[in-house]
Amino acid sequence: MSDKQQTIQSVLSEKRVFAPSEQFVRSARLNADKLAALHAAAAKDHVGFWTDLARKEISWQTPFTKTLDDSQAPNYTWFADGKLNASANCLDRHLATRGNKLAIRFEGEKGDVQLYTYQQLHAEVCKLANALKSLGITKGDRVVIYMPMVAEAVMAMQACARIGAVHSIVFGGFSAGSLRDRIDDAGAKLLITADGGHRAGNIVDLKKAVDEALSEGCKSIGNVLVLRRTGHKVGFQEGRDIWWHDLVPKQSDRCEPEWVDAEHPLFLLYTSGSTGKPKGIQHCTGGYLLGATVSSQWVFDLREDDVFWCTADIGWITGHSYVCYGPLANGATIMMYEGAPTVPDAGRFWKIAQEHGVTIFYTAPTAIRALMKLGDDWPKKYDLSKLRLLGSVGEPINPEAWMWYHTVIGQEKLPIVDTWWQTETGAIMISPIPGAVPTKPGSCTKPLPGIAVEVVDESGEIIKDNDVGGYLVVTKPWPSMLRTIWGDNDRYIKTYWGQFGNKYYVAGDSTHRDADGYYWIMGRIDDVLNVSGHRLGTMEIESALVSHPAVAEAAVVGRPHEVKGESVFAFVICRGERPIGAEAEKLAKELRDHVGREIGALAKPDDIRFAENLPKTRSGKIMRRLLRSIAKGEAITQDVSTLENPAIVAQLAGKA
Ligand code: WTA
Repeated sequence: MSDKQQTIQSVLSEKRVFAPSEQFVRSARLNADKLAALHAAAAKDHVGFWTDLARKEISWQTPFTKTLDDSQAPNYTWFADGKLNASANCLDRHLATRGNKLAIRFEGEKGDVQLYTYQQLHAEVCKLANALKSLGITKGDRVVIYMPMVAEAVMAMQACARIGAVHSIVFGGFSAGSLRDRIDDAGAKLLITADGGHRAGNIVDLKKAVDEALSEGCKSIGNVLVLRRTGHKVGFQEGRDIWWHDLVPKQSDRCEPEWVDAEHPLFLLYTSGSTGKPKGIQHCTGGYLLGATVSSQWVFDLREDDVFWCTADIGWITGHSYVCYGPLANGATIMMYEGAPTVPDAGRFWKIAQEHGVTIFYTAPTAIRALMKLGDDWPKKYDLSKLRLLGSVGEPINPEAWMWYHTVIGQEKLPIVDTWWQTETGAIMISPIPGAVPTKPGSCTKPLPGIAVEVVDESGEIIKDNDVGGYLVVTKPWPSMLRTIWGDNDRYIKTYWGQFGNKYYVAGDSTHRDADGYYWIMGRIDDVLNVSGHRLGTMEIESALVSHPAVAEAAVVGRPHEVKGESVFAFVICRGERPIGAEAEKLAKELRDHVGREIGALAKPDDIRFAENLPKTRSGKIMRRLLRSIAKGEAITQDVSTLENPAIVAQLAGKA
């Protein structure tokens, strides 16, 4: 049985169903009837449905007159003649009614707490926006943000949005090399960073990585704005580097928002694809903000007194849509935590939840599995009675982890929303509506209103029946969809639309739809790994390995991993002799560190196996399917007769 069939079997045997509790339904924003009405409205008039929502949920400076333009499909535009500002939607519009409400509750790894009301956040964002202007940043300029998970990171996003600059956040765990590539691809003028961040008791030396990145290339960067966070000694280049505390506090706390067209890019976010070069996913202002706003209301049932904690780093799309834009556009209070979940002990998340009165908790299956392994005693020590909704995102959640989340954290009564979406989709696409849709452990259930999802077969034919498997596609444009790949529209069309003649958006995931029409995501169909919920291209890691002088060739596959979901397994062919014994161990360590330096620690292979050759077909294609079986330690039952070098299999399996 193939991997995929096995997973399908295991989820197909999952029959438990959990209906929303009566108590939750009573006060839910959407109950089954209201949800049915939304679905009916969207089915009747897709464009009209989104038109009404955009008018109601977004503050426009100039109202739009046209909703969808599909004349250049698959380059769609939405609300194109409307003007707005994302930061004004997230901050200014709450000042009259919620000025004194907390916008951000922040806690550092060391326990330091900062609180910002909407009024205060607005003032800080205005000052920073003025500081950016003073550095010559104007509408359309790209600004790279490379920061720890601190409140100032959200301020940086908002300040860019406020002046119409396009932010591009690079996750703080990425290396100098990855940072450099992204700066160069975006042509960024300014880099906002910090001296460092706190993580697992250590200092993440961000400034050092910045200095290394900027030591070659990055010619577009004029200045580096540096927040003092850790206070450790860092390099400082006069003229280029500017301390945040020297520039920002002295600025005016008023800054008129720059009104931009709805299609004006709000941000770029680089993500892995099946080729080596990460893609700059480009999101626009109006449609993106609408998707983030309404999905926050529907999926998280956001209410005035909620404290919403999405644990994602702002370096990922989840941090964009559900730390920054979605909750703030709704005037919610967000929780931000800088550090690792197990510092000083495995109760940290639950302690934060108790102390800050967290009501909505949204995290990734990898975190749930890791916390589950540490035992039930940790959550039991804390009062989690304020929690009313739990969420999951980033990878398929296995039913066991779902049940633990439900039983131990959810006290068997809280709804769990398993949300399927992608960097490219901008907002949640498939998810339970907590007061309306019964859940099944491991299924993200059904598409949101206004989101047209289908399953297609290998030839691209839509399969209308239920109880089927195939490729997941989106058949109608939606407002928060990516607009293009920065600087490479052909790649946008080819990657997402090309497979089936530009008819559908192809998500790159395979799925099963059960007899009740529920979706069960089976994983990626391309060469993309999902390690702890983070997307990594196998090609990216292979390129990093091959850039080491000892390596001639490398092939990377994923191996199922208890906590991370998938781990990186690398087969490496060296220049010269194949290393063995102590020599192999030494080189493996060196290669791991090398990948860490080239891409970031998250891409380091857990396993490295040296061989004299890779299994290739006579046409020169690496048989990845075979490598995946080997990585899993499975007996090789596959036909290897088409291999150029069948004898290599024993060596790859570590047996020779
Ligand atoms: C996977 C993260 C199963 C999927 C928001 C997708 C999921 C990729 C789920 C996007 C889920 C995300 N169930 N799989 N609930 N959510 N995925 O761009 O393979 O970092 O294509 O966006 O993560 O990852 P990305």
